[in-house]
Amino acid sequence: MTKARILTGITTTGTPHLGNYVGAIRPAIRSVSDDAETYFFLADLHALIKCQDPEKIHQSTKEIAATWLALGLDCDKAVFYRQSDVPEISELNWVLSCMTAKGLMNRAHAYKAAVDQNTADGLDADAAVTMGLFSYPVLMAADILMFNASDVPVGRDQIQHVEMARDIAARFNHHFGETFTLPKARVDDNVAVLQGLDGRKMSKSYNNTIPLFLPEKKLRKHINKIKTNLLEPGQAKDTNDSTVFQLWQAFANEAQIADMRQAFADGIAWGEAKKQLADLINTELAEPRERYEELLADTAKIESVLKQGAEKARDLSAPLLANVKKAIGIRCL
Ligand code: TRP
Repeated sequence: MTKARILTGITTTGTPHLGNYVGAIRPAIRSVSDDAETYFFLADLHALIKCQDPEKIHQSTKEIAATWLALGLDCDKAVFYRQSDVPEISELNWVLSCMTAKGLMNRAHAYKAAVDQNTADGLDADAAVTMGLFSYPVLMAADILMFNASDVPVGRDQIQHVEMARDIAARFNHHFGETFTLPKARVDDNVAVLQGLDGRKMSKSYNNTIPLFLPEKKLRKHINKIKTNLLEPGQAKDTNDSTVFQLWQAFANEAQIADMRQAFADGIAWGEAKKQLADLINTELAEPRERYEELLADTAKIESVLKQGAEKARDLSAPLLANVKKAIGIRCL
């Protein structure tokens, strides 16, 4: 059997938070093994869609790369690179654009959400919509098809885009002959979508996140800000609607989860539960946090890892792009 080729991208906007860690980074790093080929990349060209602040893009790229390395990503087994270091992706993006129905892009939900918002605000339907936002699923298809990925781990909001990549690949194959693997989205139901400080999904857009590598003191402060109900110490507490418990579950082992469930039934004080939660999270993150700080102080090291990753990526992308070009009739005379 051929190995699965797993590929996913991380858009370089913002600083990683606990939700990113539990929902995407930790499972991705754990999925690295000899039984699959894994490709992870910093989607800096995608970041331009949401952010036109050069300093922010630069800073975020650095932080996200340092995060993955600090958490122990095995770069001998996984291919870890920056999208913009692989020019073949941008070239493929254009070729795929010419194979993509505009009507398909009209249905992409990021674009549709922007149009709905504009309409609700009484603006022109396409106000402030760039071509980048409109055609972003094509770039994502190029990311995926460039490496013939078979499995693409994503959050629910990205399933549609992976299906579009599949449609685009099928259309290309039909027209020009078998060239691309048809990718599948992989959504892990066992992975928690973490709640943020206010109980809604932890997300930068809700401003309710706990950044991943806060210094310990600040981490404790953030955890103390998690919204709870007004039940007093000694009153039994419900695990089901508790953000504190949900976070506990994301970091604890089975025995610890059972203990905390019992403590809730016994009426543990919120302050005490939060203290134990902060201890637990800190235990998992203390070492990586040190490595993270070291890496941020040595960006040349990060850069060299990314450059090596790009070389490995291009070993694959260059011949594949050559095939594509041959297939479409762009070749030496
Ligand atoms: N668009 C994805 C997100 O916002 C990130 C991404 C870019 C991606 N290219 C990709 C994910 C290719 C998977 C495969 O989360």
